[in-house]
Amino acid sequence: IERARTAIADHTRLVPDFPSPGIQFKDLTPVLADPAGLASVTAALASVSGDVDLVAGIDARGFLLGGAIALHSGLGVVAVRKAGKLPPPVHSATYDLEYGSASLEIPADGIDLRGRRVFVVDDVLATGGTLNAAIGLLLDAGAIVASAAVVMEIDGLPGRAAVTSAHPDLTLTALTTG
Ligand code: PRP
Repeated sequence: IERARTAIADHTRLVPDFPSPGIQFKDLTPVLADPAGLASVTAALASVSGDVDLVAGIDARGFLLGGAIALHSGLGVVAVRKAGKLPPPVHSATYDLEYGSASLEIPADGIDLRGRRVFVVDDVLATGGTLNAAIGLLLDAGAIVASAAVVMEIDGLPGRAAVTSAHPDLTLTALTTG
């Protein structure tokens, strides 16, 4: 985890006033584009999964992490997708955005999630709406969501509280806070 934290600190690109004035966007793209960054972040996230048998990666950057972690740990991966991409039938969960709402989906056929122990990954935890929606639809599909992890938790936002209050038994790890 220390190696991952160093890579994150060294390679995160800070973008002032994005997506709105006064907000500093943390762009993790260069971390994952760096071989040592991808390897250390993948290993660090895999190390906090606990006993699971499937990785779920959240649209879109969670896909990169989920695939890498699954390969690292000898597991399979499922993509939690933004609405409208998957063929029916799907499990769907809607969550609030600052303006309006969005939905995430997973397949409801072809993969049996009942009783599967799932590790959910994403790049960033902000309000927690995205992660809570992903957890909710995996639970709807009958999965046991054992753990979740993100590369970075945004300081000063209620994401961790939102997720842990909704899912007290879940292990939630953030490699860094920024
Ligand atoms: C970002 C990020 C997380 C989510 C976190 O994705 O990758 O998935 O926001 O925010 P929250 O905790 O407030 O829900 P975004 O919705 O920008 O989509 P993208 O990954 O497709 O860019």
